[in-house]
Amino acid sequence: MNSFTYHVPTKIHFGKNATDHLGDELKNYGKRVLLCYGGGSIKKSGLYDKVIAQIEKAGLEVFELSGIEPNPRVDSVREGAKLCKEHNIDVLLAVGGGSTLDCTKWIAAAAKVDHDAWDFFSEWAEVKDALPVLTILTLSATGSEMNCGGVISNLETKDKIGRLAKPLLPKVSFLDPTLTYSVSAYQTACGSADILSHILEVYFAPQEDLYMLDSFMEGLLKTVIKYTPIALNKPDDYEARANLMWASSWAINTFVTGGKQHEWSCHPMEHELSAIYDITHGLGLAILTPRFLRYCLNEKNVDKYVQFGVNVFDIDKSLPKMEIANKAIDELSDFLFNTLGLDDTFTKVGITTEHFKLMAEKACEGDTLHGFVDLTAEDIEKIFEMCI
Ligand code: NZQ
Ligand code: ZN
Repeated sequence: MNSFTYHVPTKIHFGKNATDHLGDELKNYGKRVLLCYGGGSIKKSGLYDKVIAQIEKAGLEVFELSGIEPNPRVDSVREGAKLCKEHNIDVLLAVGGGSTLDCTKWIAAAAKVDHDAWDFFSEWAEVKDALPVLTILTLSATGSEMNCGGVISNLETKDKIGRLAKPLLPKVSFLDPTLTYSVSAYQTACGSADILSHILEVYFAPQEDLYMLDSFMEGLLKTVIKYTPIALNKPDDYEARANLMWASSWAINTFVTGGKQHEWSCHPMEHELSAIYDITHGLGLAILTPRFLRYCLNEKNVDKYVQFGVNVFDIDKSLPKMEIANKAIDELSDFLFNTLGLDDTFTKVGITTEHFKLMAEKACEGDTLHGFVDLTAEDIEKIFEMCI
């Protein structure tokens, strides 16, 4: 186990009416607020009116950026940065799912520089500073509410690139599970597939594991497996939505990675799918993950699969190891495709073999995708073929 520093100072208000603290928290960061949101779900749910009322009650001035897309575009980042500069914005408030949160984080960084926002991704321009970001989460999935990452797409270059930068960490996040009652069954399922993937990307890593963190991750996995079907059957089940929401934050706030060498595999592959086909992130991950696990399984790493199968899916530990491993992958597939009802092949979501070579090369940056098992472009193409 490696030494590490854990420092994630996002303040969380969790629970029903968590947003009652909004005005007081915003006031700590200035007077001029840029409210950022997506395609209108917050207007339909009535959240928009509540947010505006809170901001007005706190005596703050509000400006707006609406229409942030799923798989948010760099054009929205540019537009938001322009607004920040024009109106001398002090603080950004993101209200929505991971796309809105990610876009807002990069607006906060782009507002502080003179160069184009895409330079953060194409040139890896330094992120020295950012405006403060507060978030109100409305979809449990990405963990963006409690991490310093953000993923942005560029339609012109067909790139979707994620990057971490400490100044982007939200100062305060408001997590009210009731705000996720209106999330559709499809987005709920995709969100849960994303949470599972965030955990599995770390759980299946090439290095010796810390028992405490593995047990914690198994608990998170079981939480998602237990509560997603409940939320699907009864969208306003508070316990289910609360468990999913808090699990989404803790799956990817760097706690589970403590001291562990880990490199992600399914996410880089999925980002190439979304970059070209604009599919929902969690759906791409759901299709890829069981195939990735099946492709990587071998005699040397089988014990990790056994641990996963026995501890998460209660598979009989007296069975032969390879049988347990394959059963574990079957159980995961069954959960994703039958229980959650997600499409199980690329063909069903309109992805053909046409760009496999290009996507595979980009996913491994023309060399090797390091991870649980190191993958070449050829390996990645084979995994894509298993998904057809
Ligand atoms: O745009 P609106 O109208 O708000 O509708 C959204 C959108 O259509 C809707 N929605 C959100 N909350 C809702 C709701 N509909 C009804 N009721 C609500 N309460 O759901 C749709 C999808 O929203 P989106 O924000 O795109 O989903 P998600 O949270 O899954 O975010 C996906 C993005 O996050 C990135 C993904 O790559 C993708 O671009 N990721 C960010 C990460 C991070 N920051 O750490 C890590 C992840 O691995 C991921 O890559
Ligand atoms: Zn993800």
